[in-house]
Amino acid sequence: MNIIVTGGGGYVGTLLVPKLLKQNHKVIVIDTFWFGDYLKPHKNLKKIKKNILNLKKKDLKNGDLIIHLAGMANDTASNLAPKLTWEITCLGTKILCDLAKENKIKYFIYASSSSVYGIKKEKKVHENLSCEPISDYNKTKLVTEKIVQSYNGDFKYFIIRPSTLYGESPKMRLDLTMNILTMQAAKKNKITVFGGKQYRPFLHVNDMVDLYLFLIINKNKIKQGIYNIASGNMKVIDGAKLIKKNFKNTKIEIKNINDIRSYRVDSSKILKAGFKPKENLDNAIKKMYKSFKNNVVKDKPNFYSIYWIKKNKLNK
Ligand SMILES: NC(=O)c1ccc[n+]([C@@H]2O[C@H](COP(=O)([O-])OP(=O)(O)OC[C@H]3O[C@@H](n4cnc5c(N)ncnc54)[C@H](O)[C@@H]3O)[C@@H](O)[C@H]2O)c1
Repeated sequence: MNIIVTGGGGYVGTLLVPKLLKQNHKVIVIDTFWFGDYLKPHKNLKKIKKNILNLKKKDLKNGDLIIHLAGMANDTASNLAPKLTWEITCLGTKILCDLAKENKIKYFIYASSSSVYGIKKEKKVHENLSCEPISDYNKTKLVTEKIVQSYNGDFKYFIIRPSTLYGESPKMRLDLTMNILTMQAAKKNKITVFGGKQYRPFLHVNDMVDLYLFLIINKNKIKQGIYNIASGNMKVIDGAKLIKKNFKNTKIEIKNINDIRSYRVDSSKILKAGFKPKENLDNAIKKMYKSFKNNVVKDKPNFYSIYWIKKNKLNK
């Protein structure tokens, strides 16, 4: 297939694109490459360095399926540049959907976020419960889901609400909870937790990539719609305790809460459709800790979204 991946230069994309190429797909990546270009050249890979706001019909020519990952990818980055977040996420997606329709692209996979749920007391937050988005990031994701849904009949869509991801990637993100906590433990023997009692769903980035591959293979079998995806839910403090259990010399420091979102995601719908996450959190933490200790994963400034966006004035 000819697969278009927007944001293919990011944390998820740099793991996903090589796997798509390995499965003999032709891939077009559309990305501003804000954080650098970690995608190796390949005969079946075309990279278009472009903002999705400036896309033209020919950029999507011959595409069969779009995986739409481009955007401001967390709350803090969106808080720094709310106007740009609304433009890229909502307007950018509308432009992409219009061009997908014009090019008769048949399938559209959108990376929304489980953060659209905001604060939920329910133990099992499934797709039919109401969303309580708090930040511009959460709000723009929810509005964009509606934009994608408004193209019903023009292409088949899958809207995915991923949990907070963790794990290693060529373009690493060190602003994700389990990644940063594990790095702090490996580098300083001390982790700082803000609040800690808030519940968060989690998912390994490899499982995220596998879900996109699963959707491509099963695109005609699986029903169009919204799907949560998490491999588990836990309090942030329990994530810190899990690291301490493995690396006993780690100290945990607790500071005042700075992000009140709290929710537990239920993934039964996608599990019933046949997808099963494989990664184990405990094993992944041990592996990541080792990579940080041995400098296999480096502590680089472009791996921190807000720092990098501010430094390069991308929010101006
Ligand atoms: N990583 C997570 O924990 C997580 C969780 C839930 C949802 N998501 C969603 O998954 C998607 C991918 O996340 P990620 O962690 O890989 O993020 P990332 O920030 O690492 O990657 C985003 C990529 O999009 C590109 N980009 C940003 N704005 C663009 C624009 N206007 N035009 C073209 N390219 C643009 C950036 O250069 C970057 O390469 C995002 O939409 C994010 O909101 C991620």
